[in-house]
Amino acid sequence: MPVVAQRCNFAIGDIIDNRFQVSKVLGEGSFGKVYAVKDYSGNLQALKLLKLWEVPSDIRESLMTRFDMEFETGRINSDYLVHSISHGVVEGNPYIVMEYCPGGDLLSAASQSHLDLAEVATHVLCGLKALHNCGKVHRDLKPENVLVKKNGEFALTDFGISGDRNKRMTERNILGKPKQIFGTYVYAS
Ligand SMILES: Nc1ncnc2c1ncn2[C@@H]1O[C@H](COP(=O)(O)OP(=O)(O)O)[C@@H](O)[C@H]1O
Ligand SMILES: [Mg+2]
Repeated sequence: MPVVAQRCNFAIGDIIDNRFQVSKVLGEGSFGKVYAVKDYSGNLQALKLLKLWEVPSDIRESLMTRFDMEFETGRINSDYLVHSISHGVVEGNPYIVMEYCPGGDLLSAASQSHLDLAEVATHVLCGLKALHNCGKVHRDLKPENVLVKKNGEFALTDFGISGDRNKRMTERNILGKPKQIFGTYVYAS
């Protein structure tokens, strides 16, 4: 059965899935868009929408599986990982609701204020340790995926390509070359 999804271009003030009101756009990648939204009680949360309508139909299923894993990884309990709160589907497009980090990401924070680098590094390493303790590797560690929480601490996010550390991630083609390369080139080892 093909996965059907409608185009959803939410603007500020729009209601998503009868539950959340859009306050602003926080970020947008190739297949995801992140909004700051208010819930019923007026609390700010971050909502990451998988723009399934833009995903070629042959990879929709695998991306949805990955998105479920992204939600599950955000359930790992650590002060240094951005928490997943709930999830849902709007017009056929899955979304994850997570804790809102008002300080934005480390890339913008670093350009705006002086940071204690030893503190940043400690929090990032604590986040990685929490993942590793649960058998996960992040695989896309970069400043854009480190967020500044309400209490000023740093937490890892974007577990979209995180994987099981005991499984081989890179599938090879017949010549032994990787079929698909994950991560971000400039940060990849
Ligand atoms: N919980 C959040 N709180 C505040 N900003 C966020 C949150 N989640 C994501 N963002 C912003 O949106 C950007 C993209 O989110 P991310 O989950 O990394 O998606 P992508 O897969 O598109 O990289 C982040 O770099 C950050 O600036
Ligand atoms: Mg990201």
